[in-house]
Amino acid sequence: MKKFVVGNFKMNTTPTEFSSYLDEFLPRIKECKTNVIFCLPATHFHVAKSRLDATNIKFGAQNISCEESGAYTGEISSAMVKDCGANYTLVGHSEARRHFKETLEVINQKIIRALAVNLKVILCIGETKYERATKKTKISLKRQLDTALKGLYENELKNIIIAYEPIWAIGTGKTPNVKDIESTVNDIRAIIADNFTQRSADKINILYGGSINENNFAQFAKIKGISGLLVGGACLNPKSFANICK
Ligand code: PGA
Repeated sequence: MKKFVVGNFKMNTTPTEFSSYLDEFLPRIKECKTNVIFCLPATHFHVAKSRLDATNIKFGAQNISCEESGAYTGEISSAMVKDCGANYTLVGHSEARRHFKETLEVINQKIIRALAVNLKVILCIGETKYERATKKTKISLKRQLDTALKGLYENELKNIIIAYEPIWAIGTGKTPNVKDIESTVNDIRAIIADNFTQRSADKINILYGGSINENNFAQFAKIKGISGLLVGGACLNPKSFANICK
């Protein structure tokens, strides 16, 4: 099964800079056997569409509106994202939750909007430092998954990838150890099995994200039950990101 490597650009680079980035990145990953996905600002979609169409690389948004359309100045709908040629959207990234006060109910609504237009969802979940210190990681992830996936049909899970990103590991240079990730991934599957079926729990793709870089990615990519990586800061360097993807 092909692994996923998702690059989350966050609010970095201009579209022109992204095009130059691709000049460096694309020749380096000609033989790449992973599913590479760029999660980009919407301003970059036209560049992604024209430059990635002839490749196996997909792109997606970093967020979408929970509303379908209407008087929501500044928002971008799932249908708009899809129409630009995107195949994916991140939903529930901890930065969006923190800065834009996204609730779990809103995240659930966003997932429903994305699936309605055939956008695949990369759903980010993770515990805070405090939750981890007080051994509440599993409870926290259960609450996040229960609410975010509420009302979904089991067959819709095939269009959902879960990105396990401990909040304290994002952009901090800190990571959990391999054993902890393995056990959390098992917990995530147990929660999915409770809400849906064991079969779906076994099949769902789970990524790890948080302070992945060129030097540490290999140990995370090898973890049993992990289908790939979500990379933030380190994806901005085309050479490093190409090495991780390869
Ligand atoms: P990071 O970000 O790799 O810079 O820690 C990951 C993310 O925010 O998805």
